[in-house]
Amino acid sequence: MVFNWHLDESPPIIESHSKAKLKVLRSYLRAYFDRLNVNPVREDFKLDLIDGFSGGGVFLDGLTEISGTPLVMLEETEQARIRLNRNRKKKLHIDCKFYFIDKKEAHTNYLQKTLLERGYLVGNDKLVIRNDRFENEVRNILKSIQKRQPRAGRAIFLLDQKGFSGVELSIISRIFRELPNAEVILTFAADALVNHLSDRPETAKMVMPLQLQSRVPDLIEMKEGNGGRALVQRTLRDHIRMATGAMYDTPFFIRPRQSRRALWFLHLSMHPIARDVMTQQHWNNQNIFEHYGQGDFGFLGWDALVDSDTIPLFQFRDLDKREMKKGLLESLPKELYRLVYEQPVTMDALRHTLANRTAARFSDLDEVIVELHKEREIEIRNPEGKRRAMTVRHLASTDRVALPSTQLLLGLSRRS
Ligand SMILES: C[S@@+](CC[C@H](N)C(=O)[O-])C[C@H]1O[C@@H](n2cnc3c(N)ncnc32)[C@H](O)[C@@H]1O
Repeated sequence: MVFNWHLDESPPIIESHSKAKLKVLRSYLRAYFDRLNVNPVREDFKLDLIDGFSGGGVFLDGLTEISGTPLVMLEETEQARIRLNRNRKKKLHIDCKFYFIDKKEAHTNYLQKTLLERGYLVGNDKLVIRNDRFENEVRNILKSIQKRQPRAGRAIFLLDQKGFSGVELSIISRIFRELPNAEVILTFAADALVNHLSDRPETAKMVMPLQLQSRVPDLIEMKEGNGGRALVQRTLRDHIRMATGAMYDTPFFIRPRQSRRALWFLHLSMHPIARDVMTQQHWNNQNIFEHYGQGDFGFLGWDALVDSDTIPLFQFRDLDKREMKKGLLESLPKELYRLVYEQPVTMDALRHTLANRTAARFSDLDEVIVELHKEREIEIRNPEGKRRAMTVRHLASTDRVALPSTQLLLGLSRRS
């Protein structure tokens, strides 16, 4: 569906998958502000929010106008200002700068009109609207963020393209190189790409922004072989991480009701906590997001490389959580044994290592590790090397996981 905004027409009608995207973006921004401002004595917080494919700002949902992504960014910043100052003695000054870019003039005109009607001051040094292609603007945006925030460089780039080839991956890699604290949220029509795979020259051209030209024959072979769609998606996911240089990703997808095509809502970052905060939002918004596989280390068809039609769908519901935990209790001992075989490893390091491979939040991983400690599969030690009590419930990032002093006989262990 192509969205169009025109000054003398009603805004476009929103579809369910776009509503899902807006909901998760909103809850992520809320969590981001809260998480980075837990320190009650902090006085200043700077953040740059960039909507590189902004659209016209509003949609129609029945007879109601609802906020599109630029307004969600503005509204959540305002809400954060109110919420975070509620119980503070010393006021927290939230200083955000917004960049809204769209290549269509009719869209930026519509956005400008919408923001003015809602009382926002447009065109000052804190709110910039540009009618241009994002790729033409990114260089100057990066420069201006570096100038405004030379130390922290905190920024969230939302790149809500329509298909899969509108964002050059080299641009995202540049963002992370120049601003390691930035985060990127990229929508990506993964299934559309899989459907388009062919040996025709148009395909090679289409995947050029993704640096995938030379891999098309491999991808076609995967799609037609046993791995099917799930294997292509797994390969694509790894490729996007590699090509962008992002250390962490959340590759969950929204499945539009009208079609069977999965739409990825990829969150890319350099920090495992950022990944964990986004994963929490998927759990908080059950039934909107899905992925293939079970949620443990069989995630995204990791092990079950059969066609995605036969892989169970994971939807972040209570039932999925129970199944995921069962899976983690079975698979984590082997993983941990491998990781801590030579020496104890801190929880922090384990979280870094395991984050990308499961739909579990850090809190879920902690619960399973505590359970394994109780079963004497592994041992949790404090930084001084002393064994934690069997009743331990919360783990610190400095706690260490070690092999147990007395190992279970192999037949009794979950590793057997
Ligand atoms: C899916 S819509 C965005 C919807 C919006 N994010 C929302 O949910 O409120 C994609 C928008 O990107 C714009 N666009 C497409 N290619 C672009 C590019 N290279 N640079 C900037 N804008 C682009 C389109 O004109 C369209 O308005």
